[in-house]
Amino acid sequence: SQHSTAVIVGSLRKGSFSLKIAKALTRLAPPSLQFDVITLGGLSFYNQDLEATPPADWVSFRERVKKADAVLFVTPEYNRSVPGVLKNAIDVGSRPYGQSVFDGKPGGVISNSPGAIGGFGANHHLRQSLVFLNVPVLQQPEAYVGGIGDAFDENDELVKASLREFLEAYIKAFAAWVVQQTR
Ligand code: FNR
Repeated sequence: SQHSTAVIVGSLRKGSFSLKIAKALTRLAPPSLQFDVITLGGLSFYNQDLEATPPADWVSFRERVKKADAVLFVTPEYNRSVPGVLKNAIDVGSRPYGQSVFDGKPGGVISNSPGAIGGFGANHHLRQSLVFLNVPVLQQPEAYVGGIGDAFDENDELVKASLREFLEAYIKAFAAWVVQQTR
């Protein structure tokens, strides 16, 4: 059966490694898994005062996530935590109270960094929110992708064989997780 995944990218940078990983995953995934890669550049700040007449960008973000069967976060780490734009997207999607678009959707978290720790802090801070949002997150394999700086060539082709193998295994496990959780 077919499942769709909203892939939410935690960086606005044009040359973002997180975005490159998200796009590489769409090429590595089994054909049963479709992706909608969501970047957050147009998403305005959550403000409870606007909830009665929400901005169009909140509405379209919420709809894109809502129609997906699963959510996959690909994010860098900012100051050992979740980048503000990603936390904002979590907040926008979680409201109005009781109408969270994340509720019950199976999820995955891939953090990455040019450094050695692979965004561990961001990965786990994100998981804290996902517990509250009732997103069952794939536990294994964990994905703390370090040394991302030399993984792609100038055409955004994933040239680091070890990472390619890892992401292939990860997305296979994620696809199985989605099947298991959406039965
Ligand atoms: C960073 N970076 C970073 N890296 C890391 O491993 N741990 C960290 O805590 C931080 N903190 C941090 C804060 C801020 C404000 C910036 C701008 C950057 C470096 C970060 O991993 C690097 O810039 C990545 O390339 C950002 O991800 P994208 O944009 O390539 O997806």
